[in-house]
Amino acid sequence: MLVQGSGRGRLLGIVTACCVLVAGIGGLEAGTGADDGGEAPAISDSQIAFGKTVYQTRASCIVCHGWSGNGDAAERAAAPGLSLRETVLTRDQLIEVVKCGRPGTNMPYHDSFAYTDDRCYGVTAAELGDQMPTRTIASTLQRREIEAVVDYLIARVVGRGEITLAECEEFWEPGARACAEYQ
Ligand code: HEC
Repeated sequence: MLVQGSGRGRLLGIVTACCVLVAGIGGLEAGTGADDGGEAPAISDSQIAFGKTVYQTRASCIVCHGWSGNGDAAERAAAPGLSLRETVLTRDQLIEVVKCGRPGTNMPYHDSFAYTDDRCYGVTAAELGDQMPTRTIASTLQRREIEAVVDYLIARVVGRGEITLAECEEFWEPGARACAEYQ
């Protein structure tokens, strides 16, 4: 009985491993036909680093959302943003908000053609009237920059709980004055 059982177990194991392998290859093949957006692809370190420069300097998201994305920016120049750490938006939705801003709020748009046609929420500037979000005061962004900043958020910000010293020093530098409060 025992011998038979473990024999079956081994066979099952081999069959399972084989199927997992096949499923894995199938998944890879499906993944290479990547459509625009959808599930987050594997993100490289250089893509994350590029996204961080968009967040920190190029688009100045940091001014309103803070370095940690918790919306409680010490450098707060505008209304504090929602916490990006706690966002429940999908990758596509994050891309859309960065592209189009959010009507009726201080979240600016970053696509230079936003609201000139129906690319943003299906509405134009004329239809939005005074609900029209402002254009970013930094430079507008290309699609790849928007994707990079969103992938940076997904990799380093979304879903993070309490801010830690390690996270702060990773963003700034080891021993940074800005991180003293997390010691
Ligand atoms: C002028 C201040 C300001 C700047 C600059 C800014 N944001 Fe925002 N952002 C806001 C505010 C305010 C909200 C909240 C809008 C609301 O009430 O729904 C917000 C909301 C968001 C949201 C939606 C979060 C959610 O869960 O609904 C995302 C994502 C976001 N911002 C990302 C960014 C990124 C990335 C940048 C830089 C490319 C950026 N923001 C620049 C003020 C700003």
